[in-house]
Amino acid sequence: MWYSTCVKIKSIQQVKNLANKKVLVRVDFNIPLKKGRVVSDYKLVRSLPTIEFLLNAGAAVILVSHLGRPKGKEKKLSLKPVAERLSKLMQKKIAFYNISTRADWIKLRTHLSVSKVGTLIMLENIRFLKGEEKEDPALSKKLAGLCDLFVLDGFGVAHRRAASVTGVARYVPSYAGLLLFEEVNILGKVMKSPKRPLVVLLGGAKAETKIPVLKKLLSVADQILISGGIFNTYLAAKGKKIGSSIEAPDFENEVLKYCQNKKVILPLDVVVGAEDGKSARPVAVEKLNISGKEAVYDVGPETVRMFAGYIKKARTLIWNGAMGKFEQPPYQYGTFSLVRLFAARARGRAFGVCGGGETVEILERLHLMPEIDLVSTGGGAMLEYLSGVKLPGLEALG
Ligand code: 3PG
Repeated sequence: MWYSTCVKIKSIQQVKNLANKKVLVRVDFNIPLKKGRVVSDYKLVRSLPTIEFLLNAGAAVILVSHLGRPKGKEKKLSLKPVAERLSKLMQKKIAFYNISTRADWIKLRTHLSVSKVGTLIMLENIRFLKGEEKEDPALSKKLAGLCDLFVLDGFGVAHRRAASVTGVARYVPSYAGLLLFEEVNILGKVMKSPKRPLVVLLGGAKAETKIPVLKKLLSVADQILISGGIFNTYLAAKGKKIGSSIEAPDFENEVLKYCQNKKVILPLDVVVGAEDGKSARPVAVEKLNISGKEAVYDVGPETVRMFAGYIKKARTLIWNGAMGKFEQPPYQYGTFSLVRLFAARARGRAFGVCGGGETVEILERLHLMPEIDLVSTGGGAMLEYLSGVKLPGLEALG
């Protein structure tokens, strides 16, 4: 039985009377900012249904999120620009609160004690506080003290143990928000009873994070088309000279074992060259022999053609991780061609699921977001969920 069907998470929709309740909502507003400006508001837009549902039901809402991985208080990782963007999206005033001093907390509690229906508050980056990532009980209780109910809506943080994710849930009644509930259910259903063939595209630089997913998916998928860090690790394990390509030396034997499975479809050719895109050229895998600073940066045209054959027959498609270093021309062709095919197939013939920051960036760049059935807001969380790992955030709601 697939994991999601074993975890019974309660939805916030089950709560009968939300009027005048103070609800703390853990969202995942960890979104890309450039020079203090929001680059992609995808996660904000996906969080709106829960926030609006609560406000319409007469609750006061306190939003809490992290941004980046700050070491202490880092001005560039303030959530202020995110609060401003959300306020614009909702056309609604948001009271933004620092929470680093005792006085800040007193001010916040005073505001909440006189809060009216429709109050919307956002707290500063919760990772500015030391206790957050240690799941500190004192901070967890402090957060719980702000509210009558806790809602976890950020699927993207459900794999983290933290005061604002799992800690607070110990002290107040806790529920899943609409976004979390939807993502968990769709992903759970896709994994439990997918329409076949189920074809997975698994790329990305970090092989270590993809290997458990590859292992789990072998029992569910019909074909897994691999590239990126996992394929480089396979090439290294086979004794190929791969120059400076990113690989995971500690996992070579494991990758070799999984890649012997007939379900794993390996690239036929790759694009190699310098990091800045100079001297880029396709090379057949059997002739691969590079050294020094050159590396494998994309899949080649023969691979795109061969992978396309599988994508075109799929009834369920899962994609995670770019095929290569798409940020650097000309290494974008493999990723962009395959993602376009993926989206075309997902438009009607197959159920398409993908997730992760890089994935959203590519889909937004190619204007393909509307074609995909589920663009998960979770990166690491989606991978762990697909690998069958029990997510602490979900367990805390069980
Ligand atoms: C994400 O963007 O994947 C989530 O916000 C989790 O962020 P983290 O990996 O820094 O915990």
